[in-house]
Amino acid sequence: MDKFAITGGTALQGEIPVNGSKNSALPALAAALLTAEPVTLRRIPRVRDIRTMQRLLVDIGTKVDADGDTVTLRTPRIVCAEAPYELVKTMRASSLVLGPLVARCGRARVSLPGGCAIGARPINLHIFGLEKLGARINQAHGYIEAEAAEGLRGAMVQFDRITVTGTEDLMMAAVLAKGETVLRNAAREPEVSDLADLLTKMGAKIEGSGTSTIRIQGVEALHGAEHAIIPDRIEAGTFLIAGAITGGDVAITGCVPEHIGALVSKLQQAGADVTQPDAGTLRVRGAGRLRSVDVTTEEYPGFATDLQAQYMALMTQAEGIAIVTETIFENRFMHAPELARMGANIRIEGRQAMVAGPRELTGAGVIASDLRASASLVLAALAARGETVIDRVYHIDRGYDRIEEKLARAGAKIRRVE
Ligand code: EPZ
Repeated sequence: MDKFAITGGTALQGEIPVNGSKNSALPALAAALLTAEPVTLRRIPRVRDIRTMQRLLVDIGTKVDADGDTVTLRTPRIVCAEAPYELVKTMRASSLVLGPLVARCGRARVSLPGGCAIGARPINLHIFGLEKLGARINQAHGYIEAEAAEGLRGAMVQFDRITVTGTEDLMMAAVLAKGETVLRNAAREPEVSDLADLLTKMGAKIEGSGTSTIRIQGVEALHGAEHAIIPDRIEAGTFLIAGAITGGDVAITGCVPEHIGALVSKLQQAGADVTQPDAGTLRVRGAGRLRSVDVTTEEYPGFATDLQAQYMALMTQAEGIAIVTETIFENRFMHAPELARMGANIRIEGRQAMVAGPRELTGAGVIASDLRASASLVLAALAARGETVIDRVYHIDRGYDRIEEKLARAGAKIRRVE
């Protein structure tokens, strides 16, 4: 298992480019199942979760051709409408094939995900929505079997709570349903809008993406399309915090600044100097002492849960007490005890973490528990005195494309130990 060895204390300098978004690329790949024609996707990030999704699609019947960060997918027919436990247990986003499979061939068999490091993460809302669209659902042996032999019918789906992949899954189911589907209390994340843009290029009729009510008029068939995935806002946010935590001067290029408005606002309140030199760049300069600023995670456009762990690492270096409240997932503080091993002063009470700072961090051996928790340990290590060794960095490889190379180019002393 690979590890990262990081010696902290260097202020990062220079430009760090951002990849295409993992969480946008995953549903985009699944959307290719909706047509027999080729779908070409550009800016697909080279991360492990994408390879997992491609493996799943190949088993389902897709021919996948990759050329750099461009991937072309052709699915002349569905060979096996199934997402097996072996893949779903390693990546929950595998459930994104449920909607497209039922829409394309009238049936799907998808393993239930089970527990996860950050929370229960059920898919009951995906299932609820599909039932509304007329699918018959049967659950047995840890699998969901969905069937709609006569095709899906448009319906009103009111989500009990906001779900990102649930909204995406239902949108993909509804594009080929008969009549109109209205998704209420839908997720407004940029990744949902990006998927709507791709589906529209494929011939779907979708209105209201980016708002909480999405209207979809079903069409007979979709066709091939070409689409470039939006930049990864979580990767951009992680690098922004890397600049701030090391007191450096870093330009994050190829990003969409509006997508991380909530983080930028918190960084500015904390005293970091964040500017936008051009439409696709954010520059962060460490400006002496940081102040503690509370944060509560929310659905978009609120502060992203996927940046909470990284922000907590930053708050260990800020003056005062920051209260970090996690509202999306019930168990997303696994990084806190690891940060404490490095010297952080963090108290957890239910869904809140009290971070008292500034504390000098010192290098230590720590373990990555999930994707964003690993990113927070990397950030803490960049600010720590001495060497930190982070074990199980396969978690970080799920969502960051060679993060160590990007950080090293900005001056970080980081190496992968195989
Ligand atoms: C997406 O997960 C992202 N993954 C996650 O990214 C992200 O943390 C999350 O949205 C929240 O922003 C992808 O886009 C592939 P949800 P998703 O359904 O869709 C509950 C990362 O680090 N819920 O919006 O699975 C659920 O338990 C990650 O890249 C139900 O109760 O999240 C959670 O508490 C990890 N029933 C809340 O809703 C359901 O059927 C929001 O989850 C679905 C969700």
